[in-house]
Amino acid sequence: MSSIYGENIKVSIWGQSHSPAIGVTVDGLPAGIKIDVEKLHRFLGRRAPGKNKFSTARREDDKPEFLSGLKDGFTCGAPLTAVIYNSDTRPSDYEEIRFKPRPSHADYSAHVKFRGFQDFYGGGHFSGRLTAPLCVAGGIFLQILEGEGVSIRCAVKSVAGETSEEKITAAVEAARARGDSVGGVIECVAENVPAGLGNPMFDGLENMISKAVFAIPAIKGIEFGNGFSCASLCGSENNDEFFMDGNQIKTKTNNHGGILGGISSGMSIVFRVAVKPTPSIGLGQKTVNLKTGENTEIIVSGRHDPCIVFRALPCVEAAAAMAIYDAALAARKEG
Ligand SMILES: Cc1cc2nc3c(=O)[nH]c(=O)nc-3n(C[C@H](O)[C@H](O)[C@H](O)COP(=O)(O)O)c2cc1C
Repeated sequence: MSSIYGENIKVSIWGQSHSPAIGVTVDGLPAGIKIDVEKLHRFLGRRAPGKNKFSTARREDDKPEFLSGLKDGFTCGAPLTAVIYNSDTRPSDYEEIRFKPRPSHADYSAHVKFRGFQDFYGGGHFSGRLTAPLCVAGGIFLQILEGEGVSIRCAVKSVAGETSEEKITAAVEAARARGDSVGGVIECVAENVPAGLGNPMFDGLENMISKAVFAIPAIKGIEFGNGFSCASLCGSENNDEFFMDGNQIKTKTNNHGGILGGISSGMSIVFRVAVKPTPSIGLGQKTVNLKTGENTEIIVSGRHDPCIVFRALPCVEAAAAMAIYDAALAARKEG
């Protein structure tokens, strides 16, 4: 198992949900970049559990300790390693799932791949908790990109098919009351990304963003620009016509979502992701006993969010920043 992303920066995420700590090492950060650690803490706070009304009761401080790579608030050119200690672990919640895989979790597929040796407590390395170190790295990339005029922001488009705050709240509360969960759609917009980042074919910017975004557990779909709806349009409706805006070339519409042929066009990069309903629910579900091969039932114990869409927002921003910064460094190398 290895969880490493990037060509020009290397982001290595390690740890498990209930191991003593989780963390990240980032190789390739240029020296001399000022990191606003307080701002990074605020960013991580948006992801942390127990911070919004829909969130799990697991409370973690989520404050990273920097072991290397930062000196007097500036990157020093050495690999940067941040560690986050797991303080609120309750492994006893998970004993039952050793041989009873939870539906829609990675328990079964990980059991097959790692022959039962995987750390299954709290989902181990597959847990949403691993998005904390992703957000540490991504929060740093966001600050660097912001210094270069690029802004990346996510917003909730819908939850359980609802778009108004009132109906979203009602849907989440109703799911919680039933012991159930709901998913939703997040939209990410990256503004001021220069034209020319990315590649055709296998290393396109869409590919790079998708690869980063699918590291976030529970993301099951992605679409760029007008996405799947382009399939029902005519070319004359879908094409984005070019025009001069002062000395800049822009398009009148942005159905292409800021990427053409895998390369940024200079228009805003726009993509949406589908977040599935939280797999751990309070209702009884059918599963299989892996030891006996018998059909059985499971009620997933532990503390779970009825909706993780809100906590996923900074994770998607972090993943997008990681991909765009890696592509920006590649373009600088190419000259
Ligand atoms: C920020 C975040 C928090 C999460 N918290 C939970 C949780 O409390 N309970 C749960 O069942 N799933 C949670 N998940 C989702 C699961 O980790 C994920 O669905 C599971 O590991 C299977 O991976 P997959 O959905 O990508 O196939 C969370 C995901 C994210 C992004």
